[in-house]
Amino acid sequence: MATSIQKAKRLLTKMTLDEKIGQMVQFGRIKLNEKNLVREGKIGSFLNSRNVALVNEVQRIAMEQSRLKIPLLIGSDIIHGYVSTFPIPVAEACSWNLDLIESSAKHAMTEAAADGIRWNFAPMVDIARDPRWGRIAEGAGEDPYLGAQIAKARVRGFQAKGKNGYPLAAACAKHFVAYGGAEGGRDYNTVDMSEHVLRTTYLPPFKAAVDEGVMSFMSSFNDILSVPSSANDFSLRQVLKGEWRFDGFVVSDWESIEEVIAHGIADDRTSSALAGLKSGVDMDMHSGVYHDHLKELVIKDKKLELLIDDSVLRILKIKYDLGLFEHPYTDPNLRDEVILNKETVEMTLKMARESIVLLKNEALLPLSKEQKIALIGPFGDDPHTPIGCWGAEGNHKNTVTVKMAFENAGLDFVIAQGCDSIDPKVEWIQEAVDLASHQDIIILTLGERQDMSGENNNRAFLDLPGAQLELLRALKKLNKPIITLLFNGRPMTIPETVEKSDALLAVWHLGLSSGTAITEILFGDVNPSGKLVTTFPKTVGQIPLYYNHKRTGRPKFRRYIDCDEEPLFHFGFGLSYSNFIYDKLIMKKSRLGKKDKLEFTIDVYNDSDIDGQEIVQVYYRDLLAQVTRPVKELCAFEKANFKAHQLKTLSFSIPISQFGYYDPEMNFIIEKGNFALWVGPSSIEGIASEFTIR
Ligand code: BGC
Repeated sequence: MATSIQKAKRLLTKMTLDEKIGQMVQFGRIKLNEKNLVREGKIGSFLNSRNVALVNEVQRIAMEQSRLKIPLLIGSDIIHGYVSTFPIPVAEACSWNLDLIESSAKHAMTEAAADGIRWNFAPMVDIARDPRWGRIAEGAGEDPYLGAQIAKARVRGFQAKGKNGYPLAAACAKHFVAYGGAEGGRDYNTVDMSEHVLRTTYLPPFKAAVDEGVMSFMSSFNDILSVPSSANDFSLRQVLKGEWRFDGFVVSDWESIEEVIAHGIADDRTSSALAGLKSGVDMDMHSGVYHDHLKELVIKDKKLELLIDDSVLRILKIKYDLGLFEHPYTDPNLRDEVILNKETVEMTLKMARESIVLLKNEALLPLSKEQKIALIGPFGDDPHTPIGCWGAEGNHKNTVTVKMAFENAGLDFVIAQGCDSIDPKVEWIQEAVDLASHQDIIILTLGERQDMSGENNNRAFLDLPGAQLELLRALKKLNKPIITLLFNGRPMTIPETVEKSDALLAVWHLGLSSGTAITEILFGDVNPSGKLVTTFPKTVGQIPLYYNHKRTGRPKFRRYIDCDEEPLFHFGFGLSYSNFIYDKLIMKKSRLGKKDKLEFTIDVYNDSDIDGQEIVQVYYRDLLAQVTRPVKELCAFEKANFKAHQLKTLSFSIPISQFGYYDPEMNFIIEKGNFALWVGPSSIEGIASEFTIR
């Protein structure tokens, strides 16, 4: 049997230049006047057409009326669910549960594939250290190691096999690369970082996606080392296709090839197309510069056809790998079977439960169901906000709000909005306070509306919008216990909210099972287990603030005269109703060779009457190196289940390569020397030990 690449090579020999270029062209939503272009073989892909009948119709034109019968590849953004909305990615990441994350991705893709979508512009694996940047919602947080594990899990899920034995879809690792490093947290902004930081922090999740067999990459909007990503020979040809031997294809981000004109490195559309082609962007998303100009470029310079051939082979290979030539059409009846089916909706609930992070609990939670509750705040019955950014086909009509979940649970409660989520008017506050004054406890929903995070939704202030803080202050005067539910798309700077709340949960934009998951946790049917994957600063002035910052010459110096340097909440932090005690960190060997593994055990005891889950985290510090290294780096973790009063001895085995780094010449090396190790419940707690590589 011929392999995909052999088949692609055979097909390439039959293709005209126009047909080759056609494979490199992606247009937006399918429009009627484009059907002729499909017939002529001048379009290889469409994006954002989410209609199975239409997708099948254009596919039929490609398969029956075009000369070479090459199937179209239909792409879309399935970021956290298709119709069944899952928690936003940064929330899912807080579960640290790789199996669940993989399963969430698989369920999302199964639904989308039923609409003929066989290519997903996800996972977004950008490291994000600046919460002002709205797209922090779409990734897995600030840590490269955790980001890499989650990247792999998502690739496995999106590319899981469908019923016909082929992958459900091609995943797309985006945005390559360093997009999250946008200056000032302003989306699309310039990025300036050393190659060292790039390789150490921003590249690892992308490399992990390649190792997991991701089929495509997307080049980003920003520049890297002063060259726009969609014209960047270094990132695309040298690193991705060279060093990493990536054999899938690269699509540009939306019109990002043409945008190199605005970046000022090309003076017209023709030269932007040339820059994209030369740098290794195989497919042009939407701008049309490949469609309009590649041919004239090849006529002038015949050698360019070799680059085109390489791009086309990559694209065709993936079309073969996806089984599109054999199974180009989507069964329209599949929708009824998979969309919003019981198993998928249950999965949104499982994922939501583990995405919630308990950040404060003054012995208040879990609540007893007998109390009289005041549910106050703008999000208590808002079905839109839990859908979050990139809602795909998610419909607010399917959301279970907190109010609905309280009703389902038969709770005794009253409800008032208290204020709008954004508008600063304070007129409704008094009514809410009056209502709450007759109740035992206040459950207060605060945070960010659905449209405040995601692409180009950056914020200069990260506190509560509108009159939300006034509402909290007014309620506080009642002297009743306040449990705050934070509906957030990013870390927020909310020290006063934390101080005035007796308990606080980050519930993010949690998807369609939002209210159910929150209610189960509030009343102790589920024990919270999520831990933060992003540092929460106290104030915007502290940004960038991330746990794995580098060592400096004057670590003890105070950096601000008007604020300390401590975050509000640390990376890896999250509470449980159980109390976990760490003990007996036993190293198998503490002097290790370069081929060894670092092996140790740790005892973790659930010192409570409640079953729970704990995310055991392992951090290290390289004590002496040729370059400045982080104060701490996550190098392993395990999420384990514990029965009440159960003691578990957990074993870890970490390859020594995990402790290597890039020297000043950018060689990855494993050096002899001493290392500190911590095993604990967050990035600032734990039992310390040390080891040596000799
Ligand atoms: C975003 C990408 C997305 C693409 C297609 C762009 O604006 O940056 O993340 O995949 O649009 O929808």
